[in-house]
Parts: sequence; structure tokens; C-alpha cells
Amino acid sequence: MRIDKLLSNMGYGSRKDVKILLKQGAVRVDDQPVKDAKRHVDPNTEQVTVFGETVDYRPFVYLMLNKPEGVISATEDNVESTVIDLIDPSYAHYELFPVGRLDKDTTGLLLITNDGAFNHALMSPRKHVDKVYIAEVDGEMTVEDVRQFAEGVELEDGYTTKPARLEILSRNGRRTTIRLTLSEGKYHQVKRMVAAVGKHVERLERVQIGPLELDANLERGDYRELTEEEVRLLMP
Ligand code: URA
Repeated sequence: MRIDKLLSNMGYGSRKDVKILLKQGAVRVDDQPVKDAKRHVDPNTEQVTVFGETVDYRPFVYLMLNKPEGVISATEDNVESTVIDLIDPSYAHYELFPVGRLDKDTTGLLLITNDGAFNHALMSPRKHVDKVYIAEVDGEMTVEDVRQFAEGVELEDGYTTKPARLEILSRNGRRTTIRLTLSEGKYHQVKRMVAAVGKHVERLERVQIGPLELDANLERGDYRELTEEEVRLLMP
């Protein structure tokens, strides 16, 4: 990769800014000054420094966010706060985006990356990656609902959902806490499935994507990088 592209990707400014750095003699490759913006470097075998500081090159970033309520799953918006606004500006040059969407009022596990292949591996309908939700429902979810969800329910637009696993976790008066495992991700799917059996989702949290569970140590609004092993688990 060209040194100017690598440094620009790593947040050292535009190609023009990087050219100035190179001219200043700030950039070294394996301790040799490099001034030529076209110089190719292999970040895996050559050490690049800027003003003596090693450039830790990596093309992709993978974050697990515990999404709070009130932020939208988008990269930017003129009115609303987005999940990307929660991420430290030091990540800005990676051009991160959310992997799929959670509604503004849904909380929990949201992955954020700049790796299109990772996004595809998790979101493509053909890959059938399970997403697991916990919902507080206003209304009594029944054994009949469990059976219907397992067969597929018809939504208000006529679409019949793929079989889904519904577990009733607890009941408190007319309220039910459920765990729902879906292998597809239609718009507002959990809320619409619950509405299709005549009840209403009051709170929704995503707790798992494929084999990856939401880290219980993450407070709402906090995030951490995935480990290499977690990334491998999700994208074998
Ligand atoms: N289903 C919903 O209804 N909302 C979400 O945010 C995710 C799944």
C-alpha cells in the first residue's frame, strides 16, 4: 500500500496533509526517512513511524456497543443523535457504521465496524444468523403464541415470518417477559410479531447475535472492541 494512503487511512489527514508530513521528514519506514508519497509499504513487515510514534496499522475495526435508548442506528443525522456519536472521535477516520439497525427505543447489542464483509456475514438473509431479543410485553403471551411463532406468524402486511423460537421467561400480572430468537431481520420485526398476536412490546433489548452475547460488563452507551476470537466466531 502507498505510504500516503496508509497514513491518510490511519487518520494523519488528507493525502495533501500527509505529503507535508513526508516533506518535513516526519515519516520513517524501518527507521529510514521516507519522503516519497508513492513509496509502497507492507504494514505487516515494515515499521512505520510518524514523529517517532509507531503507526499501528489495521484496516478494520469491530466494536460491540450496548446501545442506549434515544439514539438512532445511522452514521449521521441532522436532528437525532446516532450510535456513531457515542464512539470516541479517535475512531473517526475508520468511517464506522452500524451492522444492521435497532430501533431508537431498542437497547442492547449493536455491532459497529468498517468491514463490509463482516456486515454482510451477519446481516445477509442467506446467512441466517440468529438474533436474540428480550422483550417486556404488555399482555399475556401464551403457549399458543409459542406454537404460532414456531410455525411463522402473518404480519399486518401479509408477510409470514420464518419460524422463530419464543420462550416465556416470566409473568407479572398482565405483563410477560419473553425471549425471542429470530433468523431474519425485517423492519420492526419483534414488535410486529408480538402485535400480530394482539399484544404490545413495551421494552426491547437485543442480547445476542449468532454466538456472541452482549458483554454484561458494558454499561448502556458503552462499547469495547471485539477480540480477534470473537471476530473469528462471527465470521469464520
Ligand atoms: N425488532 C424490532 O421490532 N425492533 C428492533 O429494534 C429490532 C428488532
